[in-house]
Amino acid sequence: MAKTLIMLVRVLGLAAIVVGILLWVTSKRPYFWPHIGLGSCVAAAVFVLAVLAMTKGDVVAGVAGLLLAILLPLVGFMQLPMVFHAMGAVQAAHIALGLLAIGLAERLYSAIRRV
Ligand code: HEM
Repeated sequence: MAKTLIMLVRVLGLAAIVVGILLWVTSKRPYFWPHIGLGSCVAAAVFVLAVLAMTKGDVVAGVAGLLLAILLPLVGFMQLPMVFHAMGAVQAAHIALGLLAIGLAERLYSAIRRV
């Protein structure tokens, strides 16, 4: 199960980045829902990986994963209504949280496999 989740984070996380950049660069609304769908799948997978890592004893990474999985969609939706081509603190925080969540997923996965 953890292997499937980390593969989902890798593939869908990369796709979320690409579609997010397309959304920002092209200002085309058709990219909006695919981006939200991909991002939500990443957040959900990180959430489950965090719970699994906590059950294996990595509480610090687990709590960080839960926080990121909750903050990512919250800060993502704080960008609404969309102001195309805007790059303020919320947009920067959103990208940072997305990249952190994808990175932390690798740590969560290694914590799950270690035991
Ligand atoms: C539930 C999760 C997510 C939600 C609700 C969400 C929401 C959004 C929204 C509304 C925008 C458009 C902002 C605008 O153009 O004004 C956006 C853009 C973007 N998102 Fe996400 N997103 C999520 C996950 C992710 C993830 C996992 C990444 C990966 C790093 C990511 C990367 C980006 C990028 C690069 C942009 C374009 C730059 C920007 O406007 O910030 N997002 N996202």
